[in-house]
Amino acid sequence: MANVRLYGITKEFEDNSVIKGIDLDIADGEFVVLVGPSGCGKSTLLRIIAGLEEVSSGVVEIGGVVCNDVEPSRRGIAMVFQSYALYPHMTVAENMGFALKLAGTPRDEIGERVGRAAEILQIGHLLDRRPKALSGGQRQRVAIGRAIVRKPGVFLFDEPLSNLDAALRGQTRVELARLHRELGATMIYVTHDQVEAMTLGQKIVVFNGGVIEQAGTPLELYERPANRFVAGFLGSPRMNFLPGNLAGEEDETVLVRLACGAIARVEADASNAPPGARVELGVRPEHLRIAADGEEHAFPAEVALVEYLGDAAIVHAAVPGVPDMVALKCRGDCPAPLRGDRIRLVVDAARAHLFDEHGAAFARAPARP
Ligand SMILES: Nc1ncnc2c1ncn2[C@@H]1O[C@H](COP(=O)(O)OP(=O)(O)OP(=O)(O)O)[C@@H](O)[C@H]1O
Ligand SMILES: [Mg+2]
Repeated sequence: MANVRLYGITKEFEDNSVIKGIDLDIADGEFVVLVGPSGCGKSTLLRIIAGLEEVSSGVVEIGGVVCNDVEPSRRGIAMVFQSYALYPHMTVAENMGFALKLAGTPRDEIGERVGRAAEILQIGHLLDRRPKALSGGQRQRVAIGRAIVRKPGVFLFDEPLSNLDAALRGQTRVELARLHRELGATMIYVTHDQVEAMTLGQKIVVFNGGVIEQAGTPLELYERPANRFVAGFLGSPRMNFLPGNLAGEEDETVLVRLACGAIARVEADASNAPPGARVELGVRPEHLRIAADGEEHAFPAEVALVEYLGDAAIVHAAVPGVPDMVALKCRGDCPAPLRGDRIRLVVDAARAHLFDEHGAAFARAPARP
């Protein structure tokens, strides 16, 4: 078993408190993705799990064993870094087998494990090359191979694909998902990339300022963000936030009076909030649409920019009283307007979100009978 449990982890660098109390349970064989803004402590947490950094307080448990005082090499983990630093004078096979050689593993066994890892990563034909004769993606796979040969129970990945171009990143992402299925190992993966987080993670943990904002499945985080931070962090283009005030209820939806004076609707339970309370209505670009003629609950916008993506267009529009541009995704069935057009937009009430003035999400409306 290689589950990972973190209890009450804190970390201070001198008087700089970087991790402020983290509890996290990662099941054996689970693929967990850590996301969060730069400097929020993701790499520090990975290094704590790896044993490369000591905690200021708290407990790190791997496979049911408290590891705080266990050497990194004895924790059954392997870490893959963003800068993969292969030894330039060694072949691919030598690079991959180096840690085993240091550990005194017999030659035959090293050969066998390197061969098997190379097969999994489809780099068998590269084993005799030196790193300078490899592409970036091939080098990255060697770095992953170096981790695989050690047969760790837990893999730690710190933005392993960020040096690759978009196409290669996509391809390597698919390979990582396959690798996870094949090895069944626990994987903890740090990334800045939305798509990587949503597609690879069985669980996503959103970090901010040294604490966990929310942990859950990709769908839970996308459909039920606990707060404005998580809502704005996941999803691309990001969620739009429209400031307004509560203006009553109608047909079990909450009415929000937007700054421009128009009323928008959202399915939420705002029964505990005082009438007129300041709120923000959150709506993703894919859940906004252009209003039909004479449609109610629409608000005005002026198109500032249209980005054509091929299968869809992203329309950026200025809305009175909304500080940022509002983005709207138009697919084939809704022709994109042109720059300068004045349009009216409608929120999909069932898919929109409501946040209080502190950024906490209101519960969804109770299910209708
Ligand atoms: N050895 C260290 N000594 C002092 N401060 C450190 C040390 N390592 C990290 N920090 C600080 O801790 C904070 C968190 O750093 P960390 O590398 O964990 O962030 P991160 O979330 O991985 O960011 P990024 O996404 O940019 O990689 C930063 O403010 C950083 O400056
Ligand atoms: Mg980092």
